[in-house]
Amino acid sequence: MDQIKIFSPATVANVSCGFDVLGFCLDTIGDEMIIKKTSQKGITISKIDGYKLPFETENNVAGVSALALYNDANPDFGFDIEIYKKIKPGSGIGSSSASAAGSVFAMNELLGRPYNKTQLTNFAMKGEALASHCEHADNLAPALFGGFTLVKSLAPLKVLQLPTPNELFAVVIHPQIEIKTSESRAILPQEVPLKNAITQWSNVGSLVHALHTEDYSLLSASLEDVIVEPHRSKLIPHFEKVKQTALKHGALGCGISGSGPSVFSLCKGEVIAKKVKDAIQNVYSQTGIDFEIHLSKINTEGIKIL
Ligand code: HSE
Repeated sequence: MDQIKIFSPATVANVSCGFDVLGFCLDTIGDEMIIKKTSQKGITISKIDGYKLPFETENNVAGVSALALYNDANPDFGFDIEIYKKIKPGSGIGSSSASAAGSVFAMNELLGRPYNKTQLTNFAMKGEALASHCEHADNLAPALFGGFTLVKSLAPLKVLQLPTPNELFAVVIHPQIEIKTSESRAILPQEVPLKNAITQWSNVGSLVHALHTEDYSLLSASLEDVIVEPHRSKLIPHFEKVKQTALKHGALGCGISGSGPSVFSLCKGEVIAKKVKDAIQNVYSQTGIDFEIHLSKINTEGIKIL
């Protein structure tokens, strides 16, 4: 096999209470990439379609993660990357992760799968760090492993795959403004009150238990973020209105997707998810801010070969 085409999905990081550790994978939104073996050694990027991003390998998220794997594998040929970007950079649904995870996933396939998913996540973290100025894997892990994931630790990297309840659907609204992850991290406090920490870790624990037991009402009660959301929600126009609308129409919970501006709602069943989507769409149409809205089943497979 000399070339491969892949779908690299969008992801929702944090999932309200799990800042930097929890994430899940979406189904209907993602980038496509074509990776080819080349006789010339090294990594090149020959095509970027959809958004304006750097072509220099060491300035491009997909290029940096590709280099991390390439330098480790040291093959006697090179790779060329084509990126068909559908996920807008700065959208809060793992645009940089899709690129970073996509290149290493595809190269691993072309090399005959010498690396496991944890090793691929480690390489991809180098690319993700270029975009957000810090290493985190809460978008990368769901993109590579699929479903819900929890990043237990970064060094050594340990990713836990959590079960995905069957009837879970996500609605994601993406107001068409850009929030840079590095900037929305910079506004967060470095210390949190003990009272809030207690609420937050009780929510993370019960969310994990809810996923294992398919307990939708416990899941709903756990989708609460008392640490990050109060700060970041100020950056997202009409966040409270979206959240109240989602909850009123039956969503289990609603929160900021990654570092925003996208906002996710989790719903039990497609019928409720459609109602929530229509209601949010109605409300946001009146704000004068352009937006896209997606309904997606949770993608339990992650990145896939097309
Ligand atoms: N956990 C990261 C953050 C995800 O919220 O900053 C960024 O996409």
